[in-house]
Amino acid sequence: MTLVTSPAAPRPVLVVDFGAQYAQLIARRVREAKVYSEVVPHSMSVADMLAKDPAAIILSGGPSSVYADGAPSVDPALFRAGVPVMGICYGFQVMAQALGGDVAKTGLSEFGGTQVDVCESGVLLANTPSQQSAWMSHGDSVHRAPEGFRVLATTAGAPVAAFENREQRLFGVQWHPEVKHSEHGQSVLEHFLYDGAGLAPDWTPSSIVDDQVALIREQVGSARVICALSGGVDSAVAAALVQKAVGDQLTCVHVDHGLMRAGEVEQIERDFVASTGVRLIVRDEKERFLGALAGVTDPETKRKIIGREFIRVFEDAQRQIVAEAGEHGEEVKFLVQGTLYPDVVESGGGEGAANIKSHHNVGGLPDDLDFELVEPLRALFKDEVRAVGRELGIPEEIVGRQPFPGPGLGIRIIGEVTEHNLDILRRADAIAREELTKAGLDGEIWQCPVVLLADVRSVGVQGDGRTYGHPVVLRPVSSEDAMTADWTRLPYETLAVISTRITNEVREVNRVVLDVTSKPPATIEWE
Ligand code: XMP
Repeated sequence: MTLVTSPAAPRPVLVVDFGAQYAQLIARRVREAKVYSEVVPHSMSVADMLAKDPAAIILSGGPSSVYADGAPSVDPALFRAGVPVMGICYGFQVMAQALGGDVAKTGLSEFGGTQVDVCESGVLLANTPSQQSAWMSHGDSVHRAPEGFRVLATTAGAPVAAFENREQRLFGVQWHPEVKHSEHGQSVLEHFLYDGAGLAPDWTPSSIVDDQVALIREQVGSARVICALSGGVDSAVAAALVQKAVGDQLTCVHVDHGLMRAGEVEQIERDFVASTGVRLIVRDEKERFLGALAGVTDPETKRKIIGREFIRVFEDAQRQIVAEAGEHGEEVKFLVQGTLYPDVVESGGGEGAANIKSHHNVGGLPDDLDFELVEPLRALFKDEVRAVGRELGIPEEIVGRQPFPGPGLGIRIIGEVTEHNLDILRRADAIAREELTKAGLDGEIWQCPVVLLADVRSVGVQGDGRTYGHPVVLRPVSSEDAMTADWTRLPYETLAVISTRITNEVREVNRVVLDVTSKPPATIEWE
């Protein structure tokens, strides 16, 4: 696939990652303050950082001591570039050291909730109490602030716990304002952004839509664009943005592989088209997929078959679109992908789309498709994508949908994927989804796969007789990004209603069990 990516977003606040688990969290908090932010590695040169035209820079925390061998440092040129900078924790200490202050071991480490005594509120601590609790994690501390800096706060273990030089627009705190345990953390960040760096809180869903529409128009010109619409949130929002930008130059293809949940294909055909006006081709390929899956029970083989058939159908649809466009002299040059920011960060900082996790490539599109990529969601986290989708008027049933794997229910049937098994699972899944929504639990759950153990039979007593049916498993999980997850503690009442309804209404199922395993060691899906 040709490695051309869409232009990025507005001037960023760069978060320089010193190896802390908190860098992405800082970027999120800045975005919550309605200012656009991106994470960059500390190994990036100052020249490359400045080439991104940053509106401000935040130096993150890190696990190291500034005195440790090989501890990452910062080029003092960064502080002379005229860009507002804020140091946090380790970033605060490297900043102090680079500017001529003293960093020393106090012998007193501070970890967890710590009392901060404010001596001068300055810009950073304006309108916050003179004593406040903040979350700390440090061994070294700043003993003397660099010349020209005012000391704003101290703690028992940190003689200089916050400082600022307003004229040079340089600021720093020893604690972690990005974690919720720091009482006034978000205020401190916002004071830096709005008052210290002079930025406006104007990065909103509607400004994202406007920016992306302009960027897509610039990238695409009058060429044609295609998009594989899976029915998931990401491809739906990406397609809607492109449609808003270039209208009928976009054609979406939905491959109905027969492995969707109840009502999903209809929802794409009806609600998505109605709300966006998108030009959509739906290919009904149920028989093809079920035929190819007949007799197959091995999970990886299922995935491979589904991926292979998907590619064949998509290529076929693509040839059709190219042929039709060719008649009108328009080139089909672009392919829309719903790549998100965590995928970009995970694959090494976003310089190119080569390393995106393969299962985010819409069911594994072939890599010899010669298209340029349009990736309007590259800068966004999942909840931001949902906010943009709502701004675009996409129905809640699509925008609020749980993540759903490309191979669909095919990997939620332990055993053979047959029309009969799919029908059982669809009915059980629809009941679980309906009851979770009714109980107001959608916000707590990342996703709740319902899994049919088609290869397992269990004895039951239903009505007057003994039965020999199948168990289904409920797998509710809570997660930030699906990389790790915990099982969601659903209320017993909700579980009871789901269990009773499934065993009453889905005759083939006589047992409902709950999966109480975190990830790791288990994955979210069962196959
Ligand atoms: P696991 O099961 O690996 O899932 O913990 C993590 C997330 O990825 C989804 N998933 C897939 N998505 N194709 C996809 O498009 C796949 O083959 C696939 N396998 C898992 C899963 O639903 C969860 O959100």
